[in-house]
Order: sequence, then structure tokens, then C-alpha cells
Amino acid sequence: MADPIKVLMVCLGNICRSPTAEAVFRARVQAAGLGNQILVDSAGTSDWHAGEAPDPRSIHHAAGRHHDISGLRARQVQAEDFENFHYIFAMDRQNLRDLQQHCPPQQRHKLGLFLQHGSGQLQDVPDPYEHGPQQFEQVLDLVEDASSGLLAFLRQQHVQLHAGQQKGA
Ligand code: 4NP
Repeated sequence: MADPIKVLMVCLGNICRSPTAEAVFRARVQAAGLGNQILVDSAGTSDWHAGEAPDPRSIHHAAGRHHDISGLRARQVQAEDFENFHYIFAMDRQNLRDLQQHCPPQQRHKLGLFLQHGSGQLQDVPDPYEHGPQQFEQVLDLVEDASSGLLAFLRQQHVQLHAGQQKGA
């Protein structure tokens, strides 16, 4: 079997948006039987919450959609991430600019906005940290939508994912 495709979700704190994206996209991958072929992780551009569990509001709203993110722990993006991951998705344009500043030029093609794979017009998953329940629900809406698009995109790009699907894996 080909090496797994590694996907990193990135936001500012790694306690709201990117852990949500990690869990929702991983669930989508697992439901497609591709859990061994697509690996998902998340990190923050800052180290402000390193070692912490996701924000309790993110845990609560994710649980409302049957995603348990309580076991995830925040970490900051490391230099090796640019080498190790095949795709690195920023939750907003500021996160993308921060990643571009630290990413070696030969790895910059790996960087993109997660909502490039969404079906709507928004480019950024709005930061819910200073906001209320509606914004946390919006994060989930946007992340669920973009996760479908991203899985379809990866299937187009990587022939081995079609093979896995046909076997009913
Ligand atoms: P996240 O949200 O980037 O989606 O994890 C934030 C979390 C913490 C802070 C800002 C945004 N903060 O200022 O601590």
C-alpha cells in the first residue's frame, strides 16, 4: 500500500477551529474506509495554548454533532511539519500568511486555505474565540462542508484512494 497522505489543519490557537477540522475530517475519512490512507493532525501558529485540551465550547458543540474532541491537545506548528505533511490547510488568511512566513519555499505548494474546498464563498473560517454559540456552530457547518470537498479532492488527486474505495475498505 502507498504511504499515507498526511493532512495538517492549522489555526491560531489550535483549541477551536483546527481541532474541530481535524476531528470532523478524520471522521469523514474513516467513514469512507480510508483511515489507514489519510492521516490527519492539527496545530496552531501560536504556542498560546500548547498542551491544552480544546476550548470547552468547541468540545460542547462538536459533541452535539457526535464528535468527541476532548482528548486532543494543542501544539504549535513545528519546522518539521512542513516536511512531514503533504497538505497544510489554514483556517483563515492570517494563519496562511503566518505559515507562508515560516515555510521553506520548496514546501510552500503544500499550503492552502481549508475553505478552498468548501462549496460557499467564504475564504476564512471565522475565529469563534471571542464570540458565542452561533459562531461555534458556524465553524462546524463550514468544516463539515469543506471536509466533503477535501475528501473528493484527495480522491481525484490520489489514485490509491479510489482503489481503497472499490475494495470496500
Ligand atoms: P482558534 O481560536 O485559532 O480557532 O483555536 C483561538 C483560540 C485562542 C485565541 C484566539 C483564537 N486566543 O487569543 O487565545
